[in-house]
Amino acid sequence: MSNDGVNNGRRTFLIGVTAAVGAVGVAGLAVPFVRSWQPSARAEHAGAPVEVDVSKLEPGQRVTRGWRGRPVWVIRRTEDMLEGLERIVDEGVLADPDSEQEQQPEYARNNYRSIRPEILVLTGVCTHLGCSPAYNAEPTPRLDHGGFYCACHGSMFDLAGRVYRGVPAPTNLVVPEHSYLSEDVVIIGSEEGDTA
Ligand code: FES
Repeated sequence: MSNDGVNNGRRTFLIGVTAAVGAVGVAGLAVPFVRSWQPSARAEHAGAPVEVDVSKLEPGQRVTRGWRGRPVWVIRRTEDMLEGLERIVDEGVLADPDSEQEQQPEYARNNYRSIRPEILVLTGVCTHLGCSPAYNAEPTPRLDHGGFYCACHGSMFDLAGRVYRGVPAPTNLVVPEHSYLSEDVVIIGSEEGDTA
Protein backbone atom coordinates (compact mmCIF):
# COMPACT_ATOMS: atom_id res chain seq x y z
CA MET A 1 0.00 0.00 0.00
CA SER A 2 2.74 2.37 1.06
CA ASN A 3 5.00 1.06 -1.79
CA ASP A 4 2.25 1.80 -4.25
CA GLY A 5 2.02 5.22 -2.76
CA VAL A 6 5.79 5.79 -3.17
CA ASN A 7 5.89 4.34 -6.69
CA ASN A 8 2.85 6.27 -7.78
CA GLY A 9 4.38 9.44 -6.40
CA ARG A 10 7.67 8.80 -8.20
CA ARG A 11 5.82 7.96 -11.44
CA THR A 12 3.83 11.15 -11.17
CA PHE A 13 7.05 13.10 -10.60
CA LEU A 14 8.76 11.56 -13.65
CA ILE A 15 5.72 12.17 -15.85
CA GLY A 16 5.73 15.79 -14.69
CA VAL A 17 9.44 16.22 -15.50
CA THR A 18 8.99 14.62 -18.95
CA ALA A 19 6.03 16.85 -19.73
CA ALA A 20 7.92 19.95 -18.62
CA VAL A 21 10.97 19.07 -20.76
CA GLY A 22 8.65 18.39 -23.71
CA ALA A 23 6.92 21.74 -23.25
CA VAL A 24 10.25 23.59 -23.19
CA GLY A 25 11.27 21.74 -26.35
CA VAL A 26 8.04 22.71 -28.13
CA ALA A 27 8.35 26.30 -26.95
CA GLY A 28 11.95 26.33 -28.20
CA LEU A 29 10.76 25.19 -31.63
CA ALA A 30 7.76 27.52 -31.71
CA VAL A 31 9.63 30.79 -31.14
CA PRO A 32 11.84 30.65 -34.26
CA PHE A 33 8.79 29.62 -36.32
CA VAL A 34 6.77 32.61 -35.08
CA ARG A 35 9.73 34.87 -35.74
CA SER A 36 10.10 33.49 -39.24
CA TRP A 37 6.68 34.66 -40.43
CA GLN A 38 6.27 37.89 -38.49
CA PRO A 39 7.84 40.99 -40.03
CA SER A 40 10.74 41.95 -37.80
CA ALA A 41 10.94 45.34 -36.14
CA ARG A 42 13.94 46.01 -38.37
CA ALA A 43 11.92 45.17 -41.50
CA GLU A 44 9.10 47.50 -40.38
CA HIS A 45 11.65 50.22 -39.73
CA ALA A 46 13.05 49.71 -43.22
CA GLY A 47 9.61 50.15 -44.71
CA ALA A 48 8.02 46.70 -44.96
CA PRO A 49 4.24 47.15 -45.35
CA VAL A 50 2.21 46.72 -42.16
CA GLU A 51 -1.23 45.10 -42.11
CA VAL A 52 -3.91 46.37 -39.73
CA ASP A 53 -7.19 44.53 -39.07
CA VAL A 54 -9.77 47.30 -38.68
CA SER A 55 -12.73 44.98 -38.03
CA LYS A 56 -12.32 45.27 -34.24
CA LEU A 57 -11.86 49.04 -34.18
CA GLU A 58 -14.72 50.64 -32.27
CA PRO A 59 -16.13 53.99 -33.45
CA GLY A 60 -13.73 56.69 -32.32
CA GLN A 61 -10.98 54.19 -31.44
CA ARG A 62 -7.39 54.52 -32.61
CA VAL A 63 -4.60 51.99 -33.04
CA THR A 64 -0.98 52.95 -33.56
CA ARG A 65 1.49 50.96 -35.65
CA GLY A 66 5.10 51.68 -36.50
CA TRP A 67 6.09 52.13 -40.14
CA ARG A 68 9.44 53.47 -41.36
CA GLY A 69 10.31 54.36 -37.79
CA ARG A 70 7.25 56.57 -37.32
CA PRO A 71 3.89 56.08 -35.60
CA VAL A 72 0.98 55.61 -37.97
CA TRP A 73 -2.51 56.01 -36.56
CA VAL A 74 -5.55 54.16 -37.82
CA ILE A 75 -8.82 55.63 -36.52
CA ARG A 76 -12.42 54.64 -37.09
CA ARG A 77 -14.27 57.95 -37.25
CA THR A 78 -17.87 58.32 -36.14
CA GLU A 79 -20.70 60.00 -38.04
CA ASP A 80 -20.33 63.04 -35.75
CA MET A 81 -16.63 63.25 -36.54
CA LEU A 82 -17.33 63.14 -40.29
CA GLU A 83 -19.97 65.86 -39.99
CA GLY A 84 -17.44 67.96 -38.07
CA LEU A 85 -15.05 67.70 -41.02
CA GLU A 86 -17.70 69.31 -43.25
CA ARG A 87 -18.52 72.08 -40.78
CA ILE A 88 -14.94 73.03 -39.99
CA VAL A 89 -14.26 73.87 -43.64
CA ASP A 90 -17.09 76.42 -43.57
CA GLU A 91 -15.66 77.96 -40.40
CA GLY A 92 -12.50 78.97 -42.31
CA VAL A 93 -10.07 77.99 -39.55
CA LEU A 94 -7.94 75.58 -41.62
CA ALA A 95 -4.79 76.59 -43.51
CA ASP A 96 -5.09 73.98 -46.28
CA PRO A 97 -8.64 72.61 -46.20
CA ASP A 98 -8.47 71.19 -49.73
CA SER A 99 -5.17 69.38 -49.18
CA GLU A 100 -3.42 71.28 -51.95
CA GLN A 101 0.04 70.60 -50.58
CA GLU A 102 1.59 67.20 -51.26
CA GLN A 103 0.92 65.67 -47.87
CA GLN A 104 -1.16 62.71 -49.07
CA PRO A 105 -1.54 60.30 -51.99
CA GLU A 106 -3.94 61.41 -54.72
CA TYR A 107 -6.65 58.99 -53.54
CA ALA A 108 -6.68 60.75 -50.15
CA ARG A 109 -7.02 64.26 -51.57
CA ASN A 110 -10.63 64.68 -50.49
CA ASN A 111 -12.50 66.17 -47.54
CA TYR A 112 -11.81 63.09 -45.39
CA ARG A 113 -8.20 62.64 -46.53
CA SER A 114 -8.86 58.92 -46.71
CA ILE A 115 -9.99 56.12 -49.03
CA ARG A 116 -13.06 55.30 -46.94
CA PRO A 117 -14.56 58.22 -44.99
CA GLU A 118 -14.74 56.33 -41.69
CA ILE A 119 -11.17 54.98 -41.66
CA LEU A 120 -8.36 57.52 -41.25
CA VAL A 121 -4.73 56.50 -41.75
CA LEU A 122 -2.35 59.23 -40.63
CA THR A 123 1.30 59.64 -39.70
CA GLY A 124 1.33 60.76 -36.07
CA VAL A 125 4.19 63.24 -36.38
CA CYS A 126 3.73 67.01 -36.14
CA THR A 127 4.88 68.84 -39.28
CA HIS A 128 6.50 71.55 -37.16
CA LEU A 129 9.37 69.89 -35.32
CA GLY A 130 8.28 66.28 -35.09
CA CYS A 131 6.48 65.82 -31.78
CA SER A 132 3.55 63.41 -31.70
CA PRO A 133 0.23 65.26 -31.22
CA ALA A 134 -2.41 64.07 -28.76
CA TYR A 135 -5.64 62.59 -30.13
CA ASN A 136 -8.92 64.14 -28.98
CA ALA A 137 -11.88 62.10 -30.17
CA GLU A 138 -14.27 64.54 -28.48
CA PRO A 139 -14.51 68.35 -28.72
CA THR A 140 -12.21 70.27 -26.37
CA PRO A 141 -12.01 74.01 -25.51
CA ARG A 142 -9.34 74.34 -28.22
CA LEU A 143 -10.74 71.91 -30.78
CA ASP A 144 -14.45 72.44 -31.35
CA HIS A 145 -14.81 69.23 -33.37
CA GLY A 146 -12.06 67.18 -31.75
CA GLY A 147 -8.72 66.68 -33.48
CA PHE A 148 -5.03 66.52 -32.66
CA TYR A 149 -3.15 68.90 -30.39
CA CYS A 150 0.62 69.14 -30.34
CA ALA A 151 1.64 70.26 -26.88
CA CYS A 152 5.23 71.04 -27.91
CA HIS A 153 4.38 74.42 -29.48
CA GLY A 154 0.57 74.44 -29.72
CA SER A 155 -0.19 73.25 -33.26
CA MET A 156 -3.71 71.99 -33.91
CA PHE A 157 -5.11 69.67 -36.56
CA ASP A 158 -8.64 68.52 -37.32
CA LEU A 159 -9.77 64.88 -37.43
CA ALA A 160 -8.48 64.59 -40.99
CA GLY A 161 -5.05 65.89 -39.93
CA ARG A 162 -5.59 69.32 -41.53
CA VAL A 163 -3.62 72.07 -39.83
CA TYR A 164 -5.28 75.13 -38.31
CA ARG A 165 -4.31 78.63 -39.39
CA GLY A 166 -1.88 80.61 -37.23
CA VAL A 167 -0.07 77.69 -35.56
CA PRO A 168 3.62 76.77 -35.88
CA ALA A 169 3.05 73.64 -38.02
CA PRO A 170 3.27 74.69 -41.70
CA THR A 171 1.35 71.83 -43.32
CA ASN A 172 -1.25 69.13 -42.77
CA LEU A 173 -0.20 65.85 -41.16
CA VAL A 174 1.01 63.27 -43.68
CA VAL A 175 -1.29 60.53 -44.97
CA PRO A 176 1.00 57.59 -45.83
CA GLU A 177 0.40 55.38 -48.85
CA HIS A 178 -2.01 52.61 -47.97
CA SER A 179 -4.70 50.40 -49.46
CA TYR A 180 -7.23 47.68 -48.57
CA LEU A 181 -6.31 44.03 -48.90
CA SER A 182 -9.91 43.15 -48.00
CA GLU A 183 -12.95 44.72 -46.35
CA ASP A 184 -11.25 44.48 -42.95
CA VAL A 185 -7.53 44.75 -43.62
CA VAL A 186 -5.64 47.95 -44.35
CA ILE A 187 -2.05 47.69 -45.48
CA ILE A 188 0.16 50.65 -44.62
CA GLY A 189 3.00 51.28 -47.02
CA SER A 190 1.55 49.43 -50.02
CA GLU A 191 -0.85 50.39 -52.80
CA GLU A 192 -1.20 46.84 -54.08
CA GLY A 193 -4.65 46.54 -52.55
CA ASP A 194 -7.78 48.58 -53.25
CA THR A 195 -7.45 52.37 -53.14
CA ALA A 196 -10.96 53.21 -54.33
S1 FES B 1 6.46 70.10 -32.87
FE1 FES B 1 4.33 70.28 -32.91
S2 FES B 1 3.97 72.35 -32.60
FE2 FES B 1 6.11 72.24 -32.63
